[in-house]
Amino acid sequence: MDRLLTGLQPSGALTIGNYCGGISQIVNYQNEYETFLFVPDMHAITVPQDPEALHRNIINAIAMYIACGVNPDLPNMHIYIQSENLYHANLSWIFECFTPHGDLTRMHQFKAKSALHETFTEGLVTYPDLMAADILLYDPKYVPTGIDQKQHVELARNIAIRFNNRFGELFRVPEPLIPSVGAKIRDLQSPENKMSKSSTNPKASVFLSDSEKDIRKKIMSAVTDSDGVISFDEQNKPGVSNLLTIYSVFAGVNLEDAVTQFDGAGYGDLKKAAAEAVVSKVIPFRDKYNEVISSGIINDILNSGREYSTEIAREKYELVRRAVGFGRI
Ligand code: TYM
Repeated sequence: MDRLLTGLQPSGALTIGNYCGGISQIVNYQNEYETFLFVPDMHAITVPQDPEALHRNIINAIAMYIACGVNPDLPNMHIYIQSENLYHANLSWIFECFTPHGDLTRMHQFKAKSALHETFTEGLVTYPDLMAADILLYDPKYVPTGIDQKQHVELARNIAIRFNNRFGELFRVPEPLIPSVGAKIRDLQSPENKMSKSSTNPKASVFLSDSEKDIRKKIMSAVTDSDGVISFDEQNKPGVSNLLTIYSVFAGVNLEDAVTQFDGAGYGDLKKAAAEAVVSKVIPFRDKYNEVISSGIINDILNSGREYSTEIAREKYELVRRAVGFGRI
């Protein structure tokens, strides 16, 4: 079985954007691939986190993956916490010593996040090396993500190619797996930006844990434009295009059909339909989520995920360690 690998940071509650770019793809492919799904808590501390909230978000993220349809009972499904597998940090260090600094500081995400504060941590710079380690330890064929992580996966590919050229075949060169619709769900209040877990505007993001009332309220107050025509044009009509995308993904209607369906309708109709589609899909997740939390299964899932992922990662790390000349002959 080929492998698929992805992670979703526990830096806040998961959004419908995370569902589209990450979780839904895992759910779609979980029967065809050996799947490595982990919580990148080490990535989360590249910006300040409250430790208690971080612990909680880690467990909540796992429960939400399962609530959304990830099946932990599949023998080919491995769910684990990044920091519980020490090989991620070890391989990241090696990558840090081989990656030119400029390759890291040209990353879009680094530029955007470092511009938000007067100072930033070294971890924010080396973040893509850690992400490359997360990926390359397991030789996945595909890395499902939204469009925002494409550049990081490309860096991981470059690192793999560089190491393979220098030391012989060490890594499988992975490919990003980006959905054709829903790769960038936009902020409902500033649709030129992507929807994010950590937005400070409470109306900007729909969380998978939101109540029905909040989902409807947020989508009904989404920013659109003043020309009153429903068409898909991300450049000039990002708000309306975002609502069409959300409707398309959550109602399971293809994008062209959605555009035809709303031809001549008002923005209010589109918002109502998008809200209805999200509510029908997401509200059942909440019931399942509560079931998972109270069932007490999460610890067992994480223990076996840690054990299996550590075994795979150890083998790969040993090869790399020897290749770069560490330790005794
Ligand atoms: P993160 O936690 O920001 O996002 C998790 C996943 O959700 C996708 N995503 C979106 N997709 C569509 N629309 C949006 N508005 C949206 N926002 C987020 C992301 O693309 C991602 O797939 N660095 C990663 C976590 C990570 C990782 C990895 C991923 C660490 N190591 C190894 C893959 C492989 C991140 O911050 O994702």
